[in-house]
Amino acid sequence: MNPPFLVLGLETSCDETAAAVVRLDGAGRADVRSSVVASQVARHAPYGGVVPEVAARAHVELIGPVARQALAEAGVGPSELAGIAATAGPGLVGAVMVGLSFAKGLALAAGKPLIAVNHLEGHALSARLEADVPYPFLLLLVSGGHCQLVEVAGVGACRRLGSTIDDAAGEAFDKIAKALGLTYPGGPALERLAEGGDPARFPLPRALLGRAGCDFSFSGLKTAAARLAETVSSQADRRDLAAAVQGAIARQLEERSARAMALYAAQHGAQHLRFVVAGGVAANRTVRARLEALAAQHAFSFAAPPLKYCTDNAAMIALAGAERLAAGLTSGVDAEARPRWPLDEAAALASPTHVPGRKGAKA
Ligand code: KG4
Ligand code: ZN
Repeated sequence: MNPPFLVLGLETSCDETAAAVVRLDGAGRADVRSSVVASQVARHAPYGGVVPEVAARAHVELIGPVARQALAEAGVGPSELAGIAATAGPGLVGAVMVGLSFAKGLALAAGKPLIAVNHLEGHALSARLEADVPYPFLLLLVSGGHCQLVEVAGVGACRRLGSTIDDAAGEAFDKIAKALGLTYPGGPALERLAEGGDPARFPLPRALLGRAGCDFSFSGLKTAAARLAETVSSQADRRDLAAAVQGAIARQLEERSARAMALYAAQHGAQHLRFVVAGGVAANRTVRARLEALAAQHAFSFAAPPLKYCTDNAAMIALAGAERLAAGLTSGVDAEARPRWPLDEAAALASPTHVPGRKGAKA
């Protein structure tokens, strides 16, 4: 059994500048020693969304102080680290480069290994930060840029069962929230507006209903809801529409996850029936409660990271880095920042609906 070791993680793929120190023990248990997240929400709010250039410049300003704070809170210096992990994609490439370059500099200066981490792998492992969630498990990764069902057998061993063919669920939340006049980021604002609303009042389209496979589609729902948003004016109407949107998104997540559970159970038998929900949208209480109930119905255990590890953070990057380091998976200083980087590269390249490139699915 390996002795415990510490890894510094850095995350700069979108609009949070984050650094964290995680300790991994020989049994694979994680302990978060510090987790600092500097949100740039206020800088992007006037534009109604994340502006890549603004994000990259803000990361440059914040990464040094945030990394120093994470080390200070953990009470360690770079020499006590076993390695330095940073998100290398997917994300806004100018933003990713800031954290990755900083990590390369620090790794070189301190003579420590560098671990380039896929941001999606970070989300995939995030439930293991505070709970004992052994491999393998079925994962629903549902965030602002991604919506996919993945079988996770270990670090570097993810198999994608399905993903969105257009928008991610969080993107649908954000865009519909904007159409309802809510402030960015829209997901949490829409959840607050939906409180006490009647989800049955506005019927919304049910995409891919009854269709085989585990893919998602949210663009029809997004367009229909945005049109309806133009016609409602009273606060009660807006509340009902928000509740309908939240309900419709949760319903599709449920329907597609139920299919994935059936597929997964057919392959794994009754032994490893674990369902994990991660990513920013897992912070939504309705989504979480409905998926938890679905897991129980299908005899799966349920795990979701605490809210602070659902949205972007560096503890999940440090953990993925630490697990990679333990498996001997380190990177060279030539590791590239990647705007697109599927978790399961083989499946992404084989599927005509998930072609990489500008128009391809965001995974
Ligand atoms: O994981 P994350 O921080 O970033 C990505 O990697 O995309 O996810 C951000 C997304 C945003 O779309 C945000 O609106 C959504 O997660 N989100 C929520 C809630 N909190 C965050 N959506 C619905 N309800 C929430 N409470
Ligand atoms: Zn994320």
